[in-house]
Amino acid sequence: MTYDDVAVACAARHGGNPTRLLQILREAQAALGHLGPEAIDAIATALGLPRVRVEATATFYHLLHAQSHGAYEILFSDNIVDHQQGKNELLAYLCERMWLAPGKVSEDGLVYVGSTSDIGLGDQGPAALVNGWPLPLLDHNRLDLIAGLIRNRKPLREWPRMLFEVATNIRRGDALLAEPYAAGSGIGRVLEIGAEGMLEELERASPRGRGGAGFRTAVKWSSCRLAPGRARYVICNADEGEPGTFKDRALLQEHADLVFEGMTVAARVIGAAHGILYLRGEYQFLVEPLEGILRRRRDDGLLGSRILGEPGFDFDIRIELGAGAYICGEESALIESAEGKAGRPRNRPPFPVTVGYLGQPTVVNNVETFACAASIAVRGGAWFAAIGTPESTGTKLLSVSGDCARPGVYEYPFGVSVRRVLADCGAQRPQAVQVGGPSGTCLSWREFDRRIAFEDVPSAGAFMVFGRERDMFEVARNFAHFFAHESCGFCTPCRVGTSLLANHMDKLAAGKGSAYDMRQMHRLMHIMLTMSHCGLGHTAAKPVVETMEKFPETYERRLQALDYEPAFDVDGALATARQITGRDDALAHVDEDRP
Ligand SMILES: Cc1cc2nc3c(=O)[nH]c(=O)nc-3n(C[C@H](O)[C@H](O)[C@H](O)COP(=O)(O)O)c2cc1C
Ligand code: SF4
Repeated sequence: MTYDDVAVACAARHGGNPTRLLQILREAQAALGHLGPEAIDAIATALGLPRVRVEATATFYHLLHAQSHGAYEILFSDNIVDHQQGKNELLAYLCERMWLAPGKVSEDGLVYVGSTSDIGLGDQGPAALVNGWPLPLLDHNRLDLIAGLIRNRKPLREWPRMLFEVATNIRRGDALLAEPYAAGSGIGRVLEIGAEGMLEELERASPRGRGGAGFRTAVKWSSCRLAPGRARYVICNADEGEPGTFKDRALLQEHADLVFEGMTVAARVIGAAHGILYLRGEYQFLVEPLEGILRRRRDDGLLGSRILGEPGFDFDIRIELGAGAYICGEESALIESAEGKAGRPRNRPPFPVTVGYLGQPTVVNNVETFACAASIAVRGGAWFAAIGTPESTGTKLLSVSGDCARPGVYEYPFGVSVRRVLADCGAQRPQAVQVGGPSGTCLSWREFDRRIAFEDVPSAGAFMVFGRERDMFEVARNFAHFFAHESCGFCTPCRVGTSLLANHMDKLAAGKGSAYDMRQMHRLMHIMLTMSHCGLGHTAAKPVVETMEKFPETYERRLQALDYEPAFDVDGALATARQITGRDDALAHVDEDRP
């Protein structure tokens, strides 16, 4: 097939629609192996788009590439937990077995081995992707097997299935996961009580978004319902790129009906006819099972036209895949991406509820939020409001990983203590927990009585446990590199700030850091927090600030050279950090009383 044949075929599968450019690029790369200049030209011609527009999208996403990555592309997950479980050593081992250098295609053009940001398998790492398909629980034996398969040029469909088996690992269910649920029961109830009735139930239940920001779902849906527009859209945010988070993956693996039902309930409330499940590219293994569930729901009259026989209730859902860009979890960047563009955050306001997908009012919610909405439709707002705390109603799904005996997904009523979660997952001599991923909160052993709740420790889902032998400086350094890699580059404070921060951390790690670097990092934190365009830049310095604050000795012992001061006043240097985080309690000050 020529470049033109591939481009025309991929474009035709999407009706020649330029807003599907990202999907077309993904499919063209799968067929051609890479997206070189000829492919870009051909796609631009097939879609009638300027070349530069196609190139801008193609070059934005980490999983799309202009050069061939060989017949087998293996990308190891670069999550800190994967690191702690031996990722670098395993990557080097595979490269040695294949006689190649990391990050380069082998001379025979057969294989490429490299790294990528966390792939959503923190509970079953070290993990990697081969041509986009997940390889969990890697060890030397599995890598020997994989090396043999590659050397024998076995197509992936002939590889042993067990290599690709992704466990769901739901360890604890509560109101959402443990309760029985019949597909269609939520929609049926909304048809009984009407859109206004459903909004009243949502107000009574008072759920807050599970994607991180904690915005009230009832307010979001009613604003969208009232916003003027030609059409309305429902988008489910399944981008789940925050390192250490995988609860949405588990929900979609085992409870997809609940999620699709929540989207359909939202559609009825706001009056939408189209829904999109925006699924991170790393979860392409979920597409086939999810498409099967969507087909079944159409057959059962739960999607399509006249849902449950109701005249005028027409709604359907399609799946769109991302292509490796953490920033596409930010709702306005996600919308840009779903429109076939580079995923750069928009200026807000206007918010998506008024100007969203294709400029029309759009509800964007997290996967778990939609699952909550479906349960509220069936069981009512009062039932939901009675669970959790008054400020944080309902339950929260936590993705537990790291130094614990039983990693996996745990559902608890909001208000559960960190200590309780640690006990349930069999945490091993924990010294810290990173709640909510790198952009979340680092809790030291002295804070384990704090509670998972919007009013105490909010969480988008990650719960990474670090045992006493772990070096918290290295945890922060990994997170600093993650943000530098994932910054979309749109605004200078974040583009430059995240790179400088990672450089300072590297300098300290190399034993070449000084008090000067600490001061510079503080300056950077302040600039990024106050001047960045979106949430990524606002939170990117947080892991460094918090680990400096809570584990100062890991920084102190690395300080030397230049203006090295043996008695560097870490507590004094943290004054800006305390100011930024709005804290001045005892725990925000440095002391020697540590385990
Ligand atoms: C850098 C960044 C990444 C984000 N990633 C996600 C994500 O992966 N999933 C998600 O649901 N929300 C994510 N969010 C939050 C979304 O912008 C948005 O608030 C959320 O999808 C709204 O849904 P909710 O109200 O149900 O929480 C991210 C925000 C930022 C700033
Ligand atoms: S803060 Fe970072 S991620 Fe956000 S727009 Fe600016 S450069 Fe992009």
